[in-house]
Amino acid sequence: MRIAMLCSVVRREEKLLLEIMQERNLDVVLVDPREVVFRLADTTFWQQFDVVFERCISHSQALTSLEILNGWGIPTVNTAHTAEICGDKLKTSQALIMAGVPTPRVSVAFTPESALEAIEEMGYPVVLKPVVGSWGRLLSKINDRQAAETVLEHKAVLGSYQHSIFYIQEYVEKPGRDIRSFVVGDETIAAITRSSEHWITNTARGGKAENCPVTPEINRLSLAAAKAVGGGILAIDLFELADGSLTVNEVNYTMEFKNSIAPTGVNIPGKMVDYLMRKSSTPAALTVRTQE
Ligand SMILES: Nc1ncnc2c1ncn2[C@@H]1O[C@H](COP(=O)(O)OP(=O)(O)O)[C@@H](O)[C@H]1O
Ligand SMILES: [Mg+2]
Repeated sequence: MRIAMLCSVVRREEKLLLEIMQERNLDVVLVDPREVVFRLADTTFWQQFDVVFERCISHSQALTSLEILNGWGIPTVNTAHTAEICGDKLKTSQALIMAGVPTPRVSVAFTPESALEAIEEMGYPVVLKPVVGSWGRLLSKINDRQAAETVLEHKAVLGSYQHSIFYIQEYVEKPGRDIRSFVVGDETIAAITRSSEHWITNTARGGKAENCPVTPEINRLSLAAAKAVGGGILAIDLFELADGSLTVNEVNYTMEFKNSIAPTGVNIPGKMVDYLMRKSSTPAALTVRTQE
């Protein structure tokens, strides 16, 4: 079995994945997206792989590569469809709502004026987020009208195109932590709590990871959220509400897991490689017709 791993930086995660693939005698080729040229009428290079495993840092490189590969019929983990939904918080929120998965309220507006109106209607505090982003970057918790006006003006004047789509989410009072669950295919393989003094609990921002037993409710919601975004290998952010129920904040499609192996005792990369092996297949007819 031959696998291409699309990755620019070999992080701890990729090292662990490579070790497992080598243990299993899988033939892995590392492909750096910064060096790739996709010749759209020539699939020769890619045809040799049974599956392409996407582990990029850049969402645009990941999504575009997956779209081209899936367009050719080459199996990938995750799929372009899942990457498209998860890489965009607006699309994720909508997919969750359409699937009946509980998720915080979201409004979307395009101008500072309409955004301010949407914020006042939702009620303070709210969270403004770039629709594409991770590691808790550029999130703003807005507690009052003055802060709203300031942040909206800054975004309108200084922000790029992306920041003029105002994604406004209701702020959820969580108990100093959130829950991160890991879904591989149709199984919730593990979960952690991420605790922090800060309202942003990402481990990339210093949130502390501890094991969280996968309760039937965590399992049910995690699988429902994974299904809503197209399925695959996914990390789900869940918030606990005051009444004990759970709500799904977002779903991540190129998941990081290095801080979660020790607390959970679960061989997360092992389960990921199992899934990769299940998803590979000899690609069907990939011949691209050329004019002769
Ligand atoms: N609406 C919210 N209410 C409360 N906390 C939030 C909210 N949105 C985000 N957070 C906090 O910020 C963190 C990062 O937000 P998230 O939407 O997951 O973006 P990222 O893609 O950067 O991880 C979350 O894990 C959570 O701790
Ligand atoms: Mg997150």
